[in-house]
Amino acid sequence: QGPADLAARVVAWQRVHGRHSLPWQQTRDPYRVWLSEIMLQQTQVSTVLDYYERFLNRFPTVAALAAAPQDEVLALWAGLGYYSRARNLHRCAQAVVAEHGGEFPRSAAALKTLPGIGRSTSAAIAAFCFGERVAILDGNVKRVLTRVLGFGEDLAQSTHEKTLWRMADAALPQGEGIEAYTQGLMDLGATVCLQRNPTCEACPLASLCVAKAQGRPQDYPVKKRK
Ligand code: ADE
Repeated sequence: QGPADLAARVVAWQRVHGRHSLPWQQTRDPYRVWLSEIMLQQTQVSTVLDYYERFLNRFPTVAALAAAPQDEVLALWAGLGYYSRARNLHRCAQAVVAEHGGEFPRSAAALKTLPGIGRSTSAAIAAFCFGERVAILDGNVKRVLTRVLGFGEDLAQSTHEKTLWRMADAALPQGEGIEAYTQGLMDLGATVCLQRNPTCEACPLASLCVAKAQGRPQDYPVKKRK
């Protein structure tokens, strides 16, 4: 019952209980996947849906977005909050056009060099669009992994955050299934492994979960010192 078992359980759970019909799951177009990941960073799915559709209607391609005046991008973003996301979105589109001939790069490492695309977002895009075997670690996934693994170190300290990244790498599925695994971790974090009241009865990882065995899932993740 090592990390391999964890990945297999997440993949099997995602195929049955995960979300499959979100609009950005119907495509491997990195422009569409990237846009969804940026919108979803601090905003819930139900809110993103409308904005996502309106945005794509107005800017169907990365070139269309790059060519738009910034005012118009910000106006379409109005209501989503965290406006630095919108400014970076626009800058990223311009960088894709100016530096990559209008095509998003096809690796997590190259994606991560673009404005507004951090390590976890680059990994999500590379996994979903190109099947790259690479770990994500956003807020929801940090909660899932720290609980299952019983990782009680302070994530505000970069040395501990790095350790968790290494553990996330070690937990990746060995062969196929990176797409289902990546989406499954996100979906577990969003629908089962909730911050306040996790529904451990519905969790495929419950029998492996250190935090559950300790009877204190709410104590993870630890974020203390800045
Ligand atoms: N949150 C971040 N990325 C997501 C995705 N691909 N699906 C659902 N929620 C998400």
